[in-house]
Amino acid sequence: MALVSVNGSIYKPEDAKISVYDRGFLFGDAIYEVFRSYGKILFTLEQHLDRLYRSANAIQLDIGYTPNELVEQIYDFYKKENIEDVYIRLQISRGNCAKEQINLSPNNTGKANIVMYLHDLKLPSPQTYEKGMSLYCTHIRRNTKLSMDPNIKSGNYLNNIIALLPKDSSKYHDTFFLDHEEYVTEGTTFNIFMVKNGVVQTCPNQSDILQGITRDIVFHCADKANIDIKQDKFRLKALYNADEVFITSSTKEIMPVTKIDQEVIGSGRPGAITKKLIQQYKDFVQQYLANAKSQHPWRVDV
Ligand code: PDD
Repeated sequence: MALVSVNGSIYKPEDAKISVYDRGFLFGDAIYEVFRSYGKILFTLEQHLDRLYRSANAIQLDIGYTPNELVEQIYDFYKKENIEDVYIRLQISRGNCAKEQINLSPNNTGKANIVMYLHDLKLPSPQTYEKGMSLYCTHIRRNTKLSMDPNIKSGNYLNNIIALLPKDSSKYHDTFFLDHEEYVTEGTTFNIFMVKNGVVQTCPNQSDILQGITRDIVFHCADKANIDIKQDKFRLKALYNADEVFITSSTKEIMPVTKIDQEVIGSGRPGAITKKLIQQYKDFVQQYLANAKSQHPWRVDV
């Protein structure tokens, strides 16, 4: 089941259309968020919208609606399909080029184009969580904050796509980047953590990464479980020698990683701390849903 909303009109995906002058289509001049629901509650929607508006401010893109108006549009759209666990991608471009002529100038463009995609959530299989994923380290460097800041969730993912091009990439589940100083940053669509001697480590907020919402929740979960966690740069070699590695994203939650390049990580099975954090994460979700039900009744009225 899948639906698309284009500026408020709802279509089957095969019937949805945007202008060929849309700046997201032409230049990647767009921002987006991906979030999911658990049993009809859109999880951490407020954090996703905060990040969306931060991305918009960073590139001076006028969304044209307040966050509350956008929330209403999202729920109106969600109500059209009665899916329990849904995947939603909200994509906002700077609109069509001025005078419908191809022109890089960000001035005098049309209103932002707001496109939402909705379909059943397709999670990695339970076996993948049991075995852990395999990753390779791409030779492509993450773009730095000084150029296209990865903390802007923009519609331009070419850096990430190029990293997936090598022929043997299909032997692995996914890939991740080093920065220009060869410190580990993040993956194509996820943040990355390692565990060494009982301490969880990820690169600092200021690194060339998207500050993931799931990443933030991991800090909360580690605190709850009395697990030490720190933000500190680390190299690929440290990752190879880690006891455990895991990655995080809204659509993967916490996913163990058991192989990187040719190296087996730790015992080659998901580690004890990763498993503890996965359990804490599940508890966090349950707590969030319970609070959402009592504090924001409109959110479950789908
Ligand atoms: N990607 N880093 C990058 C480059 C990402 O694209 C994402 C999310 C993350 C993790 O962020 P979060 O925990 O807020 O989902 C990190 C989404 C899932 C996507 O593009 O489909």
